[in-house]
Amino acid sequence: MSEHSNESTIAAANVALAHVHSERLREALAALAHFGARADGGVARQTLTEVDLQARRFLIDRARALGCTVEADACANLFFRRAGRTNQPPVLTGSHADTQPVGGKLDGAYGVMAGLEVIQALNDAGIQTERPIEVVAWTNEEGSRFGPGCMGSSAFVEPAKLDAYRQVLDGEKTSFGTALDRALQAIPDVPRCALQRPMAAYVELHIEQGPVLERAGVPLGVVTGIQSVRWFRVKVTGVAAHAGTTPMDVRADAMAESIALAHRLMAEARHYEDRQLRLTLGRWVVAPNSINTIAGDVEFTVDMRCVDGELLARFAATLQEMVASHAGRSRMVLEPVFERAPTHFPSAMTALLEQACASASARAGQPAPLQLTSGAFHDAMYLAGHCPSAMIFVPSKQGISHNAAEETDHADLVLGVQALAHAVTRLAGA
Ligand code: GLV
Ligand code: MN
Ligand code: MN
Repeated sequence: MSEHSNESTIAAANVALAHVHSERLREALAALAHFGARADGGVARQTLTEVDLQARRFLIDRARALGCTVEADACANLFFRRAGRTNQPPVLTGSHADTQPVGGKLDGAYGVMAGLEVIQALNDAGIQTERPIEVVAWTNEEGSRFGPGCMGSSAFVEPAKLDAYRQVLDGEKTSFGTALDRALQAIPDVPRCALQRPMAAYVELHIEQGPVLERAGVPLGVVTGIQSVRWFRVKVTGVAAHAGTTPMDVRADAMAESIALAHRLMAEARHYEDRQLRLTLGRWVVAPNSINTIAGDVEFTVDMRCVDGELLARFAATLQEMVASHAGRSRMVLEPVFERAPTHFPSAMTALLEQACASASARAGQPAPLQLTSGAFHDAMYLAGHCPSAMIFVPSKQGISHNAAEETDHADLVLGVQALAHAVTRLAGA
C-alpha cells in the first residue's frame, strides 16, 4: 500500500476534507436518483437496462465536466480519472450505479457520487496529487437481473470470468453479453481500458444497509471485512395438472415440494440464529402460475450468509443433502450460483480509514468511528484480492436497504464523503 504520512499530505487531506460541499452532494445524489425514479421515492435501475445506460451517460458527462478522462473496460465498468503528477497506478474509489428491482437512492449511487465530489473538492482546493485518482462505477453489483452479483469488479480482478458471465440470461432471456455489447456501443466516445489494471488502493464508501451504526449512535464505520455468502438456485420439476380433478396422492406438485424444502431449510437455519446465519429465499418463478393448475415448475433462489465461513459451508452441505434425499414425485436440482468466503481487509488500510474517519468526526464534534463487519457484499470484496482495499460505512435509518425507503441523514452522508476525501488524498499523496 502506498501511504503518505508526511505533513504536507496530511495537511492536503484536511484541506480536501474541508472542501467537500454539502449542497453539491445533495444535488448530485438527487440528479442520479432521477434515472429510474419511482413514485414511492425509490429507484429502479437494474444493471444495463435503458435507464442504467442513461445514468451512465449522465455520469460520463458529469465526470468530463470535472476535467476527468473517461474509460470503460470490457465489462463496461466506467473509470473517471483525475490525473496525478505521476503516472503511477491510481488510487481507486467508487461503487456501483445499478440498483435492485426496487432499490433506494443510496445503495451504490452514494459511493459513485461521493467519488466525484472528492474530485470536485480537490479541484476547488487546487490540490494536485502524486498518483492519479479514479472513480469507478462497477457494472452489475446487485446481481438481481443477471446473477451473480459483483460481475464487473470480479471480471476486472479475474478477466477469465467474463466469458461465462456473458452467457448468463436475465428473466427475458437476454444474455449479459448482449446487454454488455449494447452498453459499450452506446458510448462510442469512451476509449477502452484493460481489465486487471494495477491499482494502488481501493476505498469504497457505502451506506451500512444494517442497524449497527444507528444503534450505536455513531456516524462513521470502518469496515474490517465482509461476511461469507453463497447463492443457489433450486429447480423443481413436477407435472402441471388440473387442480380440481387430480387426486392428492398422485400429484407431482412442484410448489408443495418446494414449500416443504423451504420449511425444512428455514427450521434448520433457526438453530444458527445466534451465530448470525442469515437465509433468504428471495425469488420464486412458478409455471404455469395459474390458480387452478398444479405448479409444474418452480424455481427459487437461496441466499445464505454468515460471518463464520465454515458454518456457512456446513449449512450449504445440509441444503445439498436435503435436495439429494428429496423423496417427492418431482425432480429437484440444486445449482450453485455464487460463493465467497469471508473477506478481511488489511489492517494498514483500516488504520488509514480510521484516521480519516476520526478527522472528519472530530471536526464535526461527532463520536469516533466504530469498526464493523459488512453484512452486505460489495465490489470491495473482489478488489481486496487485487490491491489494498477497505470500506467506510455511514448509517442507514432503521437499517433499511434494498427498499425504496432507504435513507441516511444528509449530515452523515457529508461526513462520509469528508472521510473519503481525506483517505483518498492520503493514499494518492500530495
Ligand atoms: C448486495 O447487494 C448484497 O446483496 O449484499
Ligand atoms: Mn451496494
Ligand atoms: Mn445492493
